[in-house]
Amino acid sequence: MRLALFGAVVLAAAVVKLPTGRADLAAGRKLYENQCALCHGQTGEGGRGPVLTKPRLARAADDAALVRVIEHGISGTEMPGAHSMSERDIRQTAAYVRTLGRVAIKPVPGNAARGAELYRTKGGCAGCHDAGFTAPALQGVGSRRSAVYLREALLTPESAVPDGYLLVTAVPRSGGNVTGVRVNEDSFSIQVRDASGKVHSYWKSELAELRKQRGVSPMPSYRGTFSEDELTDVVAYLASLKDSE
Ligand code: HEC
Ligand code: HEC
Repeated sequence: MRLALFGAVVLAAAVVKLPTGRADLAAGRKLYENQCALCHGQTGEGGRGPVLTKPRLARAADDAALVRVIEHGISGTEMPGAHSMSERDIRQTAAYVRTLGRVAIKPVPGNAARGAELYRTKGGCAGCHDAGFTAPALQGVGSRRSAVYLREALLTPESAVPDGYLLVTAVPRSGGNVTGVRVNEDSFSIQVRDASGKVHSYWKSELAELRKQRGVSPMPSYRGTFSEDELTDVVAYLASLKDSE
C-alpha cells in the first residue's frame, strides 16, 4: 500500500525513477531486443527508427518522457505504443535504453553542404520531394531515421517505404488509368494523388480494377548514379535535417 501511494506521488511530480539493478537491466535488454531492436537496431544503432545511442533523446528528454514514449508511442509516427508490456516491463526497458545512451556520439561522416548541393542538382531529389506531391516530405527525416536506413533508402528505395505510403493504379471502367499515391480510402471510395498533385476521387463501384503496389517505390535507386563519396555526402545532408525542437 505504501509503495503504491509512493508511486502515485512520484507520478504526480512527473519524476520517474528507473530501476538500476543488474537483473532489471538484463530483463530490459531482453525486452528491448524482442520489441524494439527491429526498428532501433540490436544495440540502438538505429534503422527504421532513430539512433538511441546518444546522450540526449529529443522526444524523451527525461525519464518520465521516455516511459511515456514507450508506453504510448508517438502519435502520427511509426513509433508504436507498447500494448503487451506491463508497467514494470516498460521501466526495465527504459532503464536499458538509458544505458545505450551512455556513449560518445559518433558524427555521421560526409559533407552535408555538398550533399545538399547534390540533392538539388545531380540527384534531382527536389523535383519529387519538394515540388512533387507523390513523395513524402523529408523535413525532420534525420530525427526519424538512422544514417544506415537513409543510405538504404537511396540504394534500395523499396526497402524503405514509410508506413501508410501506398502506390495505387485506379482503372475506371470509363477508361483513363491514374497511378499515384493513396490519399484516403474507405469501403466505398478511394482518393489518389497523381504526380502533378491533382487528387482523383473514385467510387469503387466505378472501377474495373484497383491495383495496390505494396513495397513498390517510384523513387529510382541511386546505386551507380552517385559515387561512394557522393552517397556519403547526401546521407550526411539527410541526417542533418532534424526536427526543430
Ligand atoms: C515499428 C518500428 C518501431 C518500433 C517497434 C519501436 N520504435 Fe521507437 N521509434 C520509431 C520511430 C520511427 C521513431 C521516430 C518517431 C518520430 O519522431 O518521427 C521512434 C522514436 C523512439 C524514441 C524517441 C527517440 C528520440 O530521439 O527522441 C524512443 C525513445 C523510442 N522510439 C524507443 C523505443 C523503444 C524502447 C521501443 C520498444 C519498446 C521502440 N521504440 C519500438 C520506430 C519504432
Ligand atoms: C521520382 C521521384 C523521386 C525522386 C527523384 C527521389 N525520391 Fe525519394 N522518395 C520518393 C518516394 C515516392 C518515396 C516514398 C516511397 C519510398 O520510400 O520508396 C521516397 C522516399 C525517400 C526516403 C525515405 C523517407 C522515409 O521517411 O522513409 C528518402 C530518405 C528519400 N526518398 C530521399 C531521396 C533523395 C536524397 C533523393 C535524391 C538523391 C530522392 N529521394 C529522389 C520519390 C522520389
